[in-house]
Amino acid sequence: MPVTVLTSAKSCGVTTAALALTLASARASVLVEADPAGGTIRTGLLQGQVDAGHGIYHLATAHRVGQEALTQAFASHLVPLDDAGHRQLLPGLTDPGQAAALDRTWEPLGEILQVLADDDPGYDVLVDAGRLTLDTRRLHPTLTPAPLLYAADFVLLVVRGTDQSLALAQHVIEPLKADLGEHGSGALGLLLIEEGPHGAHQVGAALGVPVIGALPWDADTAAYLTGGGKPRRGLSRAPLLRGARTAGGHIEALAARRRLALDFSAQPDTATRLGSALHRLTRQGGPRG
Ligand SMILES: Nc1ncnc2c1ncn2[C@@H]1O[C@H](COP(=O)(O)OP(=O)(O)OP(=O)(O)O)[C@@H](O)[C@H]1O
Ligand SMILES: [Mg+2]
Repeated sequence: MPVTVLTSAKSCGVTTAALALTLASARASVLVEADPAGGTIRTGLLQGQVDAGHGIYHLATAHRVGQEALTQAFASHLVPLDDAGHRQLLPGLTDPGQAAALDRTWEPLGEILQVLADDDPGYDVLVDAGRLTLDTRRLHPTLTPAPLLYAADFVLLVVRGTDQSLALAQHVIEPLKADLGEHGSGALGLLLIEEGPHGAHQVGAALGVPVIGALPWDADTAAYLTGGGKPRRGLSRAPLLRGARTAGGHIEALAARRRLALDFSAQPDTATRLGSALHRLTRQGGPRG
């Protein structure tokens, strides 16, 4: 299953979209709140129920011990987002000043996420990477979790269909494209939040990157996901969650196609390539969940 990193030029709904995709996922899912500016889910949706003793910051300390300690810390710092524990969260930083401590942890964390996604059955892995910060037209090494973007299957720039959102996205899209082209291994796409006059076709054409999914404007559900409050009845049927289910399906279908293409280019023997690709396709075409 894919590792999908969400980011934005400026506060477009990255955290809300990441939560919606995680909660709507067709299978077990993990959301990593990797926004260097600090996490908001702990004090938002989770209403402060998870204290600072849990979260991504502790992975930096564990990583100093070694990769195995990091892997164990990753697993032990996940908190459930639902009663069954099928959707889990690695809560973000409580203090933006802690971001520099994670400098060397992003890369091994990216490897853990890839293993989790490739596992059988794999997890849907979502990463909230916050707003993009560029440093002379490259991803900033501390103010963005750049290695997570480089290792992802998909990097989705979240944009709204408004003039303001498009104008800001236009400034970051070229450097992002260039940096991922040089260092990344995945595909770059857009996740459209359907606010404003510009539709998917127009937004994709303006930014020169395909819109891979779209989420409806759904103020009530978004307010609950960002601010928490009384648990919402029928949340899974809300427009935002329904939209996220459809968008997740598109991401998954594209991931299957990408892996098929990678199988063909990476393996020398035709029979092996075909066998492996068909095996994956048939598995992915089967019942979900
Ligand atoms: N699909 C949506 N429909 C309606 N409102 C939305 C939607 N997505 C996000 N919002 C609202 O937009 C605001 C910003 O959302 P969110 O916090 O997810 O943005 P963000 O990109 O993570 O911001 P930041 O970069 O500051 O972390 C919130 O008030 C949220 O409720
Ligand atoms: Mg956010």
